[in-house]
Amino acid sequence: MSDRLHTLSGYLYEYQKSIAQPEEFWARIADSFHWRKRWDKVLKWNFEGPDVKWFVNAKLNITENIFERHLYTIGDRPAIVWEPNEPGEATRTLTYRELFREVCRFANALKSKGIQKGDRVIIYMPMVPEAAIAMLACARIGAIHSVVFAGFSSSSLADRIIDCEAKAVLTSDGNFRGNKKIGIKSVVDEALEKSSVETVIVYRRTGQETEMKSGRDFWWHQVLEGQSDVCPAEEMDSEDMLFILYTSGSTGKPKGVVHTTGGYMVYTKYSFDNVFQYSAGDVYWCTADIGWITGHSYIVYGPLLAGATTLMFEGVPTYPGPGRFWEVIEKHKVNIFYTAPTAIRALQAFGTDPIQGCDLSSLKVLGSVGEPINEEAWHWYHTHIGKGKCPIVDTWWQTETGGIMVSPLAGITPTKPAYATLPLPGIQLCIVDAEGNELTGNSVEGNLCIKFPWPSMIRTTYGDHERCKQTYFSTYQNMYFTGDGVKRDHDGYYRILGRVDDVINVSGHRMGTAEVENAINEHPKVIESAVVGYPHEVKGQGIYAFVICDMTNRTEDNLINEIKDMVSKIIGPIAKPDKIQIVPGLPKTRSGKIMRRILRKVAEGQLDSMGDTSTLLDPDVVEKIVEGRK
Ligand code: WT7
Repeated sequence: MSDRLHTLSGYLYEYQKSIAQPEEFWARIADSFHWRKRWDKVLKWNFEGPDVKWFVNAKLNITENIFERHLYTIGDRPAIVWEPNEPGEATRTLTYRELFREVCRFANALKSKGIQKGDRVIIYMPMVPEAAIAMLACARIGAIHSVVFAGFSSSSLADRIIDCEAKAVLTSDGNFRGNKKIGIKSVVDEALEKSSVETVIVYRRTGQETEMKSGRDFWWHQVLEGQSDVCPAEEMDSEDMLFILYTSGSTGKPKGVVHTTGGYMVYTKYSFDNVFQYSAGDVYWCTADIGWITGHSYIVYGPLLAGATTLMFEGVPTYPGPGRFWEVIEKHKVNIFYTAPTAIRALQAFGTDPIQGCDLSSLKVLGSVGEPINEEAWHWYHTHIGKGKCPIVDTWWQTETGGIMVSPLAGITPTKPAYATLPLPGIQLCIVDAEGNELTGNSVEGNLCIKFPWPSMIRTTYGDHERCKQTYFSTYQNMYFTGDGVKRDHDGYYRILGRVDDVINVSGHRMGTAEVENAINEHPKVIESAVVGYPHEVKGQGIYAFVICDMTNRTEDNLINEIKDMVSKIIGPIAKPDKIQIVPGLPKTRSGKIMRRILRKVAEGQLDSMGDTSTLLDPDVVEKIVEGRK
């Protein structure tokens, strides 16, 4: 493959070329795809708008690049291997040819329900092949999918359905997760009370009793009946929307990050190939859920564009026991394994017993994503899972970047624990200080920005371009601001230090502190609240909430549990605070701004380094908070 890097010097050479002549560089990479019509210009951009267009006026369909491009060569190769929640249940394998057939049939089913190019379709499903089939069927006919993680509550789902004005929802009766059977369709019904969705298609997974609203709800297997397995691909412009994915920010409700077709296709495949150094026949397993960007780019699109075999796992790491991941690796002879630090730390806590007796010798490459990986977890992963012989790719990126930005290339870039190392070709990083001055040279620390466009970058936030501009392109002029702090060490290697804004990262899931506060404030006894992150052994960060309450007729314990349930109900269990402290007041400045810096210190337990509190309206409140600390 011409676009594959093989050596460190090759990487350095290509990197230089990608910076000196970006358009030539990306045109060469893009040439290996199938375009119905070639681009007039590779790139047009400005970051003031922002207005970024890649492969201007090119026409294509991303699914033609997965299927038609591969069928003659690798049609019989497994595309998706599915491992169910229950180890005793049969696995399923879909070859490229079989997957293509299912995608076409389901695409025709969507069309028969009136779904057309440009319509938004919500996918709220468990980790079954049909979830990937649904995404690809949308892409086949030019509908825009928006996958919502099936752990989100009905009100979070409703917000997303309403924001993108979805025409249809694809879902399942229920979901198996560990020893639980969770109703999914009932959550959808609740979410749909306030919306105008015309069609709901329900995949039968658990077989549980499910209400169906006539004229609106249809069973998946029934809409498929009689559908042809031929479905011509819709011709898409390179800049037509491929999907919307909602993510949390530091203010307000989650925003719909928009990704478009051509650039996303080129970058996800290129980065997949190079970071993981995938070779034909390898079994690749990414443990993310398709509800997150990792699932989009590195379970579905990247691997399938590269002709890889991608494993999809329905269950959880600890069911039926803490050895499940290792058993799955042995069972499917997984060669490349990509997971999150939080999962590594959770499994590390069980010691090495669950690994004993599992043959992990198929493994060649290990990956990490979602949050900074601490050195201890890195070494455990390297020693006990990789047996000291598998390179670890610590991949830094974001929902907004669409693909991996900073990462070692497996087996090529020398690694260093806890370092994401070096940017991929085409990625022009920049470290700035608080005033926006670029910090050049090595051994510097500051805020991470990107100063030149890359093909899979965010184009807008759905329905609100101004919000995109404000959030990402206004903090520093002419730069995309990531929200992360970073250090470039004496070797020029990058180490991500975590968020510098009011976003916390809980088990690799992004939460806005304001979003959690809004949910807490829904409780009738809550007067005011402030949420911060604090270091958590397994989750990376935990959620600590300081809450002022009206305590009449309530005990502290009752109230705390009620507030936790409230947050679970409004956002979802992943947002449930780990600690809630009822406080008499919050540290505020004279202008009424909450000083989170102080609350963070309290949550972290750094009580002797509170810093200057003299500007507070009521400095005594800090003492009271410290006394009542959990
Ligand atoms: C935030 C993005 C894209 C992957 C899934 C999360 C943090 C992500 C790393 C890493 C240190 C990381 C950052 C980033 N993050 N990967 N390898 N090392 N931090 O996507 O929900 O959009 O969150 O996750 O803070 O900004 P996301």
